Parts: sequence; structure tokens; C-alpha cells
Amino acid sequence: MTQLLRINSSSRQDGSHSAAVADVFEAEFRRKHPGCEVITRNVADGSIPFIAQETIDGFYAPQDALTEELRSATALSDELIGEIQGSDTLLLAVPIYNCSIPAALKAWIDQIMRIGHTFSMDETGFRGLVKARRAVIVCAYGSEGYLTEEPFAAANFLEPYLKFLFTFLGVQTIEFVHVQGTATAGPEVFADRLEAAKGEARQAA
Ligand SMILES: Cc1cc2nc3c(=O)[nH]c(=O)nc-3n(C[C@H](O)[C@H](O)[C@H](O)COP(=O)(O)O)c2cc1C
Repeated sequence: MTQLLRINSSSRQDGSHSAAVADVFEAEFRRKHPGCEVITRNVADGSIPFIAQETIDGFYAPQDALTEELRSATALSDELIGEIQGSDTLLLAVPIYNCSIPAALKAWIDQIMRIGHTFSMDETGFRGLVKARRAVIVCAYGSEGYLTEEPFAAANFLEPYLKFLFTFLGVQTIEFVHVQGTATAGPEVFADRLEAAKGEARQAA
């Protein structure tokens, strides 16, 4: 069965533009894949802790050396990785916070970037082990000018980072849908932009 994993990372529970655009993708995806499974994680709700000493110890311990404590420290990581590995498509809704991704999304990333599970390393180098073939990433920017060759492109540590990361993990196709000026564009201009982003999301699905 087709499975979509959706990650919402805005701290806004209401009125998130990245979530609104991702909603359109999800609705269209569901329409195109009747009976598909959709798993949603709202990572900004405090459910994803930062990795701690025991988490790292557990990540690097051989399977047969995992104590009860280390098993418990890596249980959430196991669960989150299981969600990725069972999915065909990843959908991320991501606001830019201080030129980068929200810390809550970084917490999720630190839980799922795991040697021997989502990537491997040997004398030939690194290899991505993620089975999901595709990631669609909706990015919301309060201001404008962050895209390629725009004035603040050099301050965009969100899209290049996520593109590198999911490529590293082995995801073959990574697509971005952006909505800029959520805080700065006038209402009419912004309404048009939001519609355009929703159209792109529908198309991408
Ligand atoms: C903590 C914080 C930091 C932000 N930093 C930036 C920033 O660096 N650049 C920018 O364009 N907008 C910034 N914004 C504005 C958000 O990116 C904008 O409100 C966006 O629409 C948030 O996504 P959402 O609508 O999905 O919640 C920031 C907002 C917050 C709350």
C-alpha cells in the first residue's frame, strides 16, 4: 500500500502557511492514491526530544550490546525511522526560522539520521539507505528574496540543507514548493502567491 509520511514543523498550530500548502498536496495525493496510508508527525509539539548521551550511545552500540536503557533511549528513533522506511513519499512543511529550519525539525532529523539504518559508511564512502523515493518540501518564508539569484539567497540555509540531507539519505527526487513574503507581501499579492503555491503543490501530487 502507498504510504505518505507528512512532517509539519511550524510552531503555529493555526494559520501555518506551510501546512496550508502541504494540506493541498496531501488532499490531492489521497485522491490519486485511494486507500493510501498517511502518517502525520507534528514535530513542533514537543514530542521529539533532542538526542542525549544515551541516544548516541545506543546509535553506535552493536545490536547485541544494547542494554534495556539504550534500547529505550533509541526506541523513538526506531519508530521514526520505521515511518520513513515504510513510506514511498515524504512531505515536509517547513517555515524558515532565523535563516534555517526550525529546531524542532532538526530534533527529528537528529533522530532519523542514523548509521546502519538510514545511511551506511565504508571504505568506499557513504550510502543512503532511505527507501522513500521522493520528498516534497513546502517552505514558507516571512520575507522575500531567498530563492536562487535573489538578494537573500546566501541567507537561505533551509532549502540547500534539506536538499543535501535527503540526497545523502538516498532520496532520489526532491522537490520544493515555496511561498515567500508571508509577513511582508500585501494581502492581495500574498493571496495570489498562496494560490500559486497551492497550485504547484496540487501539480506535484
Ligand atoms: C522564530 C521565527 C523566526 C523567523 N525567521 C525568519 C527568517 O529568518 N526569515 C524570514 O523570511 N522569515 C522568518 N520568520 C517568519 C516565518 O518564516 C513566516 O512567518 C512563515 O510564514 C512561517 O511558516 P508558517 O506560516 O508555516 O508558520 C520567522 C518566524 C519566526 C516565528
